[in-house]
Amino acid sequence: MKFVVLASGAGSILDFLLQQQNTGSLHPKIQALITNNPRAGAIQFAQKHGLPYHCLDISQYNDFEAWDRAVLELLTEIQPDFLLLAGFLKKIGPLVLKAFRGRIFNTHPSLLPKYGGQGMYGRKVHAAVLAAGERISGVTIHQVTEKFDDGPIVVQADTSILPDETLDSLESRIKLLEKETILNFLNDLDQGLI
Ligand code: GRF
Repeated sequence: MKFVVLASGAGSILDFLLQQQNTGSLHPKIQALITNNPRAGAIQFAQKHGLPYHCLDISQYNDFEAWDRAVLELLTEIQPDFLLLAGFLKKIGPLVLKAFRGRIFNTHPSLLPKYGGQGMYGRKVHAAVLAAGERISGVTIHQVTEKFDDGPIVVQADTSILPDETLDSLESRIKLLEKETILNFLNDLDQGLI
């Protein structure tokens, strides 16, 4: 299988996946990066690994619908089997959703439905988990729908909150768990196990 990664931020998950692809541990092929953010760190990782990337900055389009159409046109050229959202902070538009329904996956660093939704990303998620005194947290991979962090859950992995847990320690442990979970998910999807 082949897929496109959509990312708006630092891109550490993209970097990890490209490294796994280089060593032969990632079985489906990453075809391209699509970002909405010209300053996304993910672009540097794409450049470093020679991955084609496309920046579709929404502010350069007349409206959301025109942006959605441009994303769909690009995807129609690239012809991926599925899309992986790895820190993509814009809503996927209705045209792309319709064309790829059930084939767009997002990774989120909490056990959804808890600690998801608009504005819940990065360290904010872990801060909320710690403030609520949760005993476990984890990672969710789910199908993407019209609402943020809301579609059917495909995979979850959890970890206990440690007695001396800090925001930094939780963030870095969840990031590791997230990478491992995504890699297994992608390889299972490629093998038709999901
Ligand atoms: C990941 O933790 C993912 O769960 C969330 O955004 C983060 C992306 O990190 N949706 P990075 O940009 O790949 O470093």
